[in-house]
Parts: sequence; C-alpha cells; structure tokens
Amino acid sequence: MAPQLAWIGLGNMGRGMSKNLIEKGQLDKPLIIFNRTPKRATDLSKSLPTGKSTVASSVEDAVSKSDIIFTCVGDDAAVNEIIDAALKSGVEGKLFVDCSTIHPETTEGLAKRITAAGAEFVACPVFGAPAMAESGQLVCVLAGPKAAVEKVKPYTKGVMGRATIDFGGQPVGKATLLKVIGNSFVLNMVETLSEGHVLAEKSGLGNENLHQFIETMFPGPYAAYSTRMLSGDYHKREEPLFAVDLARKDARHAMALAKASGTQLKDLEVADAHLAQVKEHMGVRGDIASIYGAVRKEAGLKFEN
Ligand SMILES: NC(=O)c1ccc[n+]([C@@H]2O[C@H](COP(=O)([O-])OP(=O)(O)OC[C@H]3O[C@@H](n4cnc5c(N)ncnc54)[C@H](OP(=O)(O)O)[C@@H]3O)[C@@H](O)[C@H]2O)c1
Repeated sequence: MAPQLAWIGLGNMGRGMSKNLIEKGQLDKPLIIFNRTPKRATDLSKSLPTGKSTVASSVEDAVSKSDIIFTCVGDDAAVNEIIDAALKSGVEGKLFVDCSTIHPETTEGLAKRITAAGAEFVACPVFGAPAMAESGQLVCVLAGPKAAVEKVKPYTKGVMGRATIDFGGQPVGKATLLKVIGNSFVLNMVETLSEGHVLAEKSGLGNENLHQFIETMFPGPYAAYSTRMLSGDYHKREEPLFAVDLARKDARHAMALAKASGTQLKDLEVADAHLAQVKEHMGVRGDIASIYGAVRKEAGLKFEN
C-alpha cells in the first residue's frame, strides 16, 4: 500500500508540484491538500480529476491523516508556523519534506524539532520556475538521513522533477545551503540580462539581436528570462511568477551566509538594490524579471518597455 501523502502550500510552485504528485506519484489514495488561504486549495481540487485530492481543514487535519507531509511555503517564518502547528499532535513515524527556500539554520532547526517528536525530516528545495514545476521539470536537492531520503526519491525525478541532486546522508542544511547559493546565480543572471538588454537598446545593437545571441549561446533559463523582458511580461503580469519579496528573502539569506563565512557577494548586492527599486515601483506585483525595469530607469529609459 502506498503511503498517504499531504501537500501544504499551494502557491506558484506548490500547485504544479502537487499536480505532478497526483498524476505521476503512484498514489493509491487522494492527495490531501492544504493552503492558508482555503480558496486556493478548493480551486486546485476542482481543477484536478475527481477523487484525486481532498482538502484538509487545517495543518493538524492534513498531518494527522498522512504518512508523508510535503511543505512548500514562502519563507522561514511560514514553515516554522506550519511545523509548530503540526507538532501539536502526535507525529511519531511520519516523514516531513520541506521544499521551501529557507536559511540552512532554519532547516536544521526544523530537523531538530521534528526528530525530537519521533518523526523524520528531509530537506528538498527545488530549482526551476513555476512553469517547470507545472511540467515536472524541476531539479530537486535532497538532504537528510539516507533512509529517509530514499523514501522521498520516488516523488522527485520523473514526477516533480527532471533530476535530483542527492546529498543523502549529509546534514539537511546542505540542501538549502546549495539552494541559497544557487539562487544567487539566478539573481545574477537576471541582473546580467537586464544590463545587457539596456546596453543593447542604448548602443544601437537592438534587443532582438541580443536576444538571438542569448537563445543561441545560453538556451534555457537565460532565453526564458530574456523573453519575459522583451515581451513586457516583467511589468504587465498581475501576479508575479517569482515574487520580489521572495527574491529579496533569498538574497538576504545568501548575503548573510557570505558575511558569516567571511566573504562577499557584490553582484548580489547590486541585484538586491534593483529589487528594492522594483518593490518601490510595483509593490507586491514585482517579479525578479522586473529588475529589467529598474535598470532601464537608471539608464534614463521608462521602467516599462
Ligand atoms: N517562484 C519561484 O520561481 C520559486 C522557485 C523555486 C523555489 N521557490 C521557493 O518555493 C517557495 C514557494 O514559492 P512560491 O513561488 O510558490 O510562492 P507564492 O506563490 O508566493 O506562494 C507562497 C505560499 O506560501 C503560503 N504562505 C506564505 N506565508 C504563510 C504562512 N505564514 N503560513 C502558511 N502559509 C503561508 C502561501 O499561502 P497563501 O496562499 O495563503 O498566501 C502560499 O501557499 C518559496 O520558499 C520560494 O522561495 C520559488
């Protein structure tokens, strides 16, 4: 009999990931889903085939009925709140898997509390945009006790992701440490693309010519973000794909880790300053791709292209 799974957190990432668990995770019971704002859970449940999901009324309700509980929520405080609620009742023998991007110390703190309560914990942060969560193309980073990691693997490669980075047997914080360092690459990529496109426009090369080079030389995420910039998606969309507040949380974690380790991430400081301008210009609608608007404005162009 397959274990009973629950999914907590149905934002941009969680909706696609839970859908793939249902479609490809070999579940023999409906996936139990929960979201702080209930409408997101009921809307998702309605969009899924009948009988494939059930909406829990609370974190405790979801956890008490499940063997493996996945969480994917905004930030460190959100995961801590959910685990606090989960640990109010007996969790012995259960397995918690956190897919959120959080500080490695927060991850280690979760592991301590969860294992003290007799349950297991695996960190499983993911790389990839919401479109990749939707299509099951994420890269999942797994860390924690080897036996527990093995229990999570059947839901990663080929289900939620295209690949896993396996840190099985290593401390859980290693997974989120890689995730935070890895996300500094993403932030720097968006900064580089933004500066390049502004220079292409102002120097006379032209954005389409630069885009052709990006598509040829750096296909994948570079080309995808370049398209979001040139199409104006970075300022037009009502709901961000990679929200400015989450991007700044990632930058904050990376810069704090650098400081604690006696080094600096100067590129990231530049990108984060642009994100601060994005927040000022667009509020919570701001997206990581909107860095393009901030760089445009600095160069005397309009934020919106
Ligand atoms: N977007 C990306 O490109 C991307 C890629 C890889 C990893 N990540 C990481 O994955 C996680 C989720 O990202 P996302 O893009 O899905 O975020 P999102 O669309 O902003 O959704 C955030 C989710 O967290 C929930 N939440 C926030 N604060 C909460 C709290 N205090 N208690 C309970 N639930 C809370 C939200 O519930 P409500 O619906 O009630 O607000 C929502 O379900 C984040 O850690 C992010 O850094 C994001």
